[in-house]
Amino acid sequence: MATTGSQTQAALSDHNLTGRVALVTGGTRGIGAAICHALAADGAVVAAGYSSNQARADELRQAVEADGGTLSLHKGDIADAEDCARVVKEVIEQHGRLDILVNNAGITVDKGISKMSAADWDKVIKVDLSGAFYMSKPAIQHMLGRGSGRIINISSVAAEMGNIGQANYTASKAGLFGLTKTLAREAAFTLRMAGKLEKGIGLTVNCVTPGLIETDMVVTIPPFMVADFVERIPMHRMGQPEEIARVVCFLAQDASGYITGQIWDVDGGLNM
Ligand SMILES: NC(=O)c1ccc[n+]([C@@H]2O[C@H](COP(=O)([O-])OP(=O)(O)OC[C@H]3O[C@@H](n4cnc5c(N)ncnc54)[C@H](OP(=O)(O)O)[C@@H]3O)[C@@H](O)[C@H]2O)c1
Repeated sequence: MATTGSQTQAALSDHNLTGRVALVTGGTRGIGAAICHALAADGAVVAAGYSSNQARADELRQAVEADGGTLSLHKGDIADAEDCARVVKEVIEQHGRLDILVNNAGITVDKGISKMSAADWDKVIKVDLSGAFYMSKPAIQHMLGRGSGRIINISSVAAEMGNIGQANYTASKAGLFGLTKTLAREAAFTLRMAGKLEKGIGLTVNCVTPGLIETDMVVTIPPFMVADFVERIPMHRMGQPEEIARVVCFLAQDASGYITGQIWDVDGGLNM
């Protein structure tokens, strides 16, 4: 699947994902929904994962289709390894391939350490960290077989800075840094050993760290804490889901094949 110089240039100039299949976990609301819209607008066939909110899932499908895009819905539990393998298989069977995996699904169960139970800890680690591993394992095997692919993990600025009341969340999201860098190295090494690491699309693994983004997740944060956060953001506002989606789309491009194992902060300058 190597690209020529002119193909690379074309991909750089028109952001063309036509013919690519992308799976976005937690793709039906918030940041995930914006990523689905953006990938579909770039021409990708999109598969959106979700856990239970059928109404929001149906709404997204209608909106993407109204814009001329193609989107399938895949209900499943990211905290369950077998269910993740089932969803990846389902997407490959339905669309014939999987080029881009965005590990975006995430939850919070915020409490100070003295009130955080082992169950609170385990629940968040399972969804926010183990879920990315459960999805990446079958996806990367498929991508290695094809010699190309993109995995993009959605972490958080909180993993870089720490955040009061989020020991479980920040530990999970920081775990994604290690997962990203190790999968990036393993993918490049495995392709090199197989003689498939030529100049071209490649198989890259990157991580995006959103700052405070205006979604349902932020509704759970007390308003005084949101106001305090915004005070500390140089851009002095919350980010929008579309501002995360544009970086994900950039990393997903064929022409982004020389970027791997990196952490991309999109946080209005909060972490600098
Ligand atoms: N919003 C922020 O300020 C912010 C900042 C930094 C990082 N992030 C990260 O960005 C990602 C998206 O955040 P968001 O604010 O867009 O979240 P959100 O609006 O709360 O949406 C979460 C999505 O994840 C899905 N999901 C939750 N638990 C799941 C499970 N067990 N199995 C499968 N899917 C599950 C939900 O499906 P249902 O609709 O069916 O529940 C929904 O589609 C998360 O990883 C989050 O940690 C967000």
